[in-house]
Amino acid sequence: MDLSTKKTYFLITGASKGIGKCMAIECCKKFVKNSLAVLVARSASGLEKTKNEIEQNNPQIKVKVIPMDLTKANSNDYDNLLSDSVGNCFGSDNFERAIIIHNVGSLGDVTCKAKDFNDNQKWSEYFHLNVFSVAALNSQFIKKFSKCEKIIINITSKCAIEPFNSLTFYCSGKAAREMYFRCLANEEAIDSKSNILVLNYSPGPVDTDMSLEIQNKSSDDNIKEVFGNMRAKKEILTPIQTTKKFIDVLEAKKFKSGDHIDYFD
Ligand SMILES: NC(=O)c1ccc[n+]([C@@H]2O[C@H](COP(=O)([O-])OP(=O)(O)OC[C@H]3O[C@@H](n4cnc5c(N)ncnc54)[C@H](OP(=O)(O)O)[C@@H]3O)[C@@H](O)[C@H]2O)c1
Repeated sequence: MDLSTKKTYFLITGASKGIGKCMAIECCKKFVKNSLAVLVARSASGLEKTKNEIEQNNPQIKVKVIPMDLTKANSNDYDNLLSDSVGNCFGSDNFERAIIIHNVGSLGDVTCKAKDFNDNQKWSEYFHLNVFSVAALNSQFIKKFSKCEKIIINITSKCAIEPFNSLTFYCSGKAAREMYFRCLANEEAIDSKSNILVLNYSPGPVDTDMSLEIQNKSSDDNIKEVFGNMRAKKEILTPIQTTKKFIDVLEAKKFKSGDHIDYFD
């Protein structure tokens, strides 16, 4: 699959920093004239910086920033977001391909142990941002771009398939989120008319604010040490390393829809 062949609608959440920023910049280098990139996160200034870099690299595409807190966003908010981003001049039918990268993610509380998590409110807030809201946006995206080819990417983690001490919220959320995308891929696989491809991409340990937060705040000394050592020895990946691998994986398209592909696979 060549990302530079079709007029593309591209939406990425968590594009203000870290992995999402890098993925937005690198993917947008590929897109053809009149493609549209939509960048979502809370930090308007972070999104503007990503936008400026994209425009410098590829002045032929249009970039919209949507500063938004996804903590409590629902289906209606996402319907509006998609409609506003597409706008009158474009219209969703004008695109040949629509790509969404569900990159947004938070760690949750890493200072407690699993046995201590008894606050339903905290569980529900965590799951809203990391699972429910992702599924709601995804569903609206599929509706909005019903006619064209759709590529749906979930940024997942090894934590979706393996438990790690102190990362109870994170592991549980990533597992649920990945299973949602696997169910989606399974259902689409038996629909001969489906035009949806799903990839669960696990970026490996990457040098971002999130991995620094694990290193600084985890209640598990071993996890702290592992991240500390990786950082000290410069073994932790850079956003650009994992982004290049991600684009290679996507373009080579050797995975089955719904697969979990890790940086180290
Ligand atoms: N770093 C790693 O080692 C690693 C490993 C495996 C998987 N991942 C996954 O990769 C993805 C990106 O992680 P990262 O390391 O790049 O983290 P990061 O540097 O903390 O970036 C997270 C992004 O999500 C946005 N975000 C957070 N809360 C939000 C909210 N309530 N509403 C809207 N946007 C919000 C942040 O922007 P604002 O703050 O501007 O809102 C930021 O753009 C996550 O899904 C993470 O689970 C990371």
